[in-house]
Amino acid sequence: MVSTPHATLAPLLARHAGRANELLPLLHALQDREGYVDPAHVPAIAAALNLSRAEVHGVITFYHHFRSAPPAATVVQVCRAEACRSRGGEALVAHVEACTGAHIDGEASHGVSVESVYCLGQCALSPAVTINGELHARVGPARFDALFADAREQGGHD
Ligand code: FES
Repeated sequence: MVSTPHATLAPLLARHAGRANELLPLLHALQDREGYVDPAHVPAIAAALNLSRAEVHGVITFYHHFRSAPPAATVVQVCRAEACRSRGGEALVAHVEACTGAHIDGEASHGVSVESVYCLGQCALSPAVTINGELHARVGPARFDALFADAREQGGHD
């Protein structure tokens, strides 16, 4: 059964009600379940946690991690932190952009979005990426091409 956003939100609001310091855990849980934080939920979240709408909106927009719209069918995250940068991470970003047609941290292209992340905990095995949430380390251009083709095939894309 596919849950609706409201069905997902209600138990989270109940769990965190009245605890303003639990905004981040609530937002993480909501995005884990829905793929994004629907801006329409901001008033309910603010009311439940005794925060202003501006405070909730400010947190959502401050943290790059939170999406305000549904994710693309295929989401590629490329680590741009130091260890990955020192091992070809930025060249990999350019390759990923050329391969997918999507600009990093820009609009999705043909159902693919490419996002920056800052450390995936694989520094010793950099560069690291995720594709649809699956972590991959020691990713060079050729390996990325194979992983990306697999992900698109699994998702029913060519
Ligand atoms: S710097 Fe890229 S995984 Fe840590």
